Amino acid sequence: MFEEIAPRYDFLNHFLSFGIDNNWRRRVVREIWKRFNERLTSLRILDVATGTGDLAIAVSKLHPARIDGIDISPSMMEVGQRKIDSKGLTDMILFREGEAERIPFEENNFDVVMVAFGVRNFEELKSGLKEMKRVMKPGGLMLILEFSHPDSFPLKSLYTFYSRMIIPLFGKLISKHHQAYTYLPETVAAFPGGETFLAILQEQGLQKLRQIRLSGGIATLYCAEK
Ligand SMILES: C[S@@+](CC[C@H](N)C(=O)[O-])C[C@H]1O[C@@H](n2cnc3c(N)ncnc32)[C@H](O)[C@@H]1O
Repeated sequence: MFEEIAPRYDFLNHFLSFGIDNNWRRRVVREIWKRFNERLTSLRILDVATGTGDLAIAVSKLHPARIDGIDISPSMMEVGQRKIDSKGLTDMILFREGEAERIPFEENNFDVVMVAFGVRNFEELKSGLKEMKRVMKPGGLMLILEFSHPDSFPLKSLYTFYSRMIIPLFGKLISKHHQAYTYLPETVAAFPGGETFLAILQEQGLQKLRQIRLSGGIATLYCAEK
């Protein structure tokens, strides 16, 4: 699916979220800065399900040593590579094809392993999380940004209407893909967010678990350490 929508993905993302998705990615940047501000330039970071690289590009502002991005969709990464080249980040951000469930890196490799709007799409959620933990250094930070469910009125009702009616309509019109933007609200609804997701992270042996609800709960940033 992402192979087909890749050329329109960035536009639709920012258009349908009114650009708020950039604020959520900046929150990831802030958490990395808070945890590692004394040694940012030595950091090795992995961006899983990097797509068109927006999270990797946001985090590049911290000037880490290197950011690796993996994704199963070459077309998404092609779009991302063009952005990286045009921003002069070619030496800092390196993409390679790879699945979250079989991460093509050795264990204990990264200070930060992060994923934005990707875990919900994993074929096997627990294997993906296990792999993410495997490639993290002890003491490393895992950051997972994902859509969630606002729980207070009137945002909850507005969001339900927007995600079930408006997103599929505009998504279909602009991407010309029939399922892609009905799939989005369906996967968001099916994803075990909040405390349930924290319990899954705990099952993997991760520690110092936290969730930061963003924009009234439309998205949540989950933080954990190895
Ligand atoms: C919604 S996009 C998110 C892209 C990017 N992280 C962002 O913030 O815009 C989801 C991405 O996850 C990738 N993906 C889905 N399943 C994956 C898996 N099992 N392993 C690696 N990437 C995967 C898709 O190819 C797609 O590029």
